[in-house]
Amino acid sequence: MEKGEDRHIIAFPFPSQGHINPQLQFSKRLIANGIKVTLLTTLHVSRNLKFQGAYADSVRIRVISDGSEDRQDTDTMRQTLDRFREKMSKNLENYLREVMDSSNPPRFILYDSTMPWVLEVAKEFGLPRAPVYTQSCALNSINYHVLHGHLKLPPDSPTISLPSMPLLCTNDLPAYDYDPASTETIIEFLTSQYSNIQDADLLFCNTFHKLEGEIIKWMESWGRPVKAIGPTLPSAYLDKRLEDDKYYGLSLFDPNKDECLKWLDNKPPGSVLYVSYGSLVVLGEEQLKNMALGFKESGKFFLWVVRETESQKLPPNFMESVGEKGLMVSWCSQLQVLAHPAVGCFLTHCGWNSTLEALSLGVPVVAFPQWADQVTNAKFLEDVWKVGKRVKVNEERLASEEEIRSCICEVMEGERANEFKSNSMEWMKWAKEAMDEGGSSDKDIMEFVAMIKQAS
Ligand code: UDX
Repeated sequence: MEKGEDRHIIAFPFPSQGHINPQLQFSKRLIANGIKVTLLTTLHVSRNLKFQGAYADSVRIRVISDGSEDRQDTDTMRQTLDRFREKMSKNLENYLREVMDSSNPPRFILYDSTMPWVLEVAKEFGLPRAPVYTQSCALNSINYHVLHGHLKLPPDSPTISLPSMPLLCTNDLPAYDYDPASTETIIEFLTSQYSNIQDADLLFCNTFHKLEGEIIKWMESWGRPVKAIGPTLPSAYLDKRLEDDKYYGLSLFDPNKDECLKWLDNKPPGSVLYVSYGSLVVLGEEQLKNMALGFKESGKFFLWVVRETESQKLPPNFMESVGEKGLMVSWCSQLQVLAHPAVGCFLTHCGWNSTLEALSLGVPVVAFPQWADQVTNAKFLEDVWKVGKRVKVNEERLASEEEIRSCICEVMEGERANEFKSNSMEWMKWAKEAMDEGGSSDKDIMEFVAMIKQAS
């Protein structure tokens, strides 16, 4: 056995795009420091994976079944989650039985915090473990208070004061009511992330000290060491060394890379609005129509990601009506787009990855959240980090065409636009500093590397 072979760990993200990305990038950082990583994923994800960039010498993928082949269309969310947990924990157990007895057993397991049952399985095998929190620490704080009965969702008072956080209003709190029949299940699922942390060796968060330092400190009062390892972007993006692009991603969608970049290449610096709603959010026809008209009325160039499942809902012939002003694709390489000098604004649903990517690449935002953590991320983007404007919505959470147009113009033109841009550039600098050698996140990552090497 080669000496380095000992330094083997498992990374086990929740099988969706927004959860795979951060663990994959964290894994790459560990690999660069001499750790072997096996990334566990599900059969369903593995069938849809598209590999981007250099694959050799990187993460090893191992597939286990999540039981989705037994799924019925009539299943409730609770049934789906229960089956997922039941199947996956059994299959994880089988996998660990096999690999713990091998010549190169894992020394540690990183697992998505939304799968706290992984900790119980790892414990049976005496395998050290740590959850990776995919969302912001602000969200961790909110969910933790809900779990311990100190906060109700929706809350019973108009403002909420939590330790190390700005004062929050009702509409800054995560909205878990997007599927009313399952709200309780969703809240249980998300608060379970903190249920057994006393048995975790560490807690990993995809954030950095300059961004959420106070909340990270408060999380340490939970009694476990907290490691801030973000932003988990490929290092080539943080350094803007795109010519030697080492980006290796796992995408569940086909990125329309070349067409987007070619289209952006012809546009003046800072002139393009980039619009994306991530991998999960579904919008109604009326909202899509208001967005389309708002983009058109703004007079800006726009690059709009509309997933295939959404495109049927757009106003007929809309893209034809805007001509060269707009390009619509079903998926793009978001990091490459955000790093392009032509992009001047990102209209985002404020998923945590998109939030970190906008901050790290210095792109001001129009924050247009829909549900869950997106709402709280939007509050921080606008009021705490001050890199853009949040769209105002009515009681049905719909934004008008005029509101969308005016937010875009405020973020892309005039005095306030300059302020947003200069704040964004500061965040870009701080994000890079955190990940640079000796930066706060780099230190936390290197402490973990040293811990694994010592254990081997
Ligand atoms: C989900 C939840 O919706 C979000 O609220 C939570 O914070 C994380 O999990 P998702 O909706 O997919 O994530 O959003 P986000 O966290 O922003 O992740 C999307 C990822 O897909 C980003 O890394 C983004 O770069 C990538 N992406 C998106 C592309 O590569 N191309 C695209 O066209 C769109």
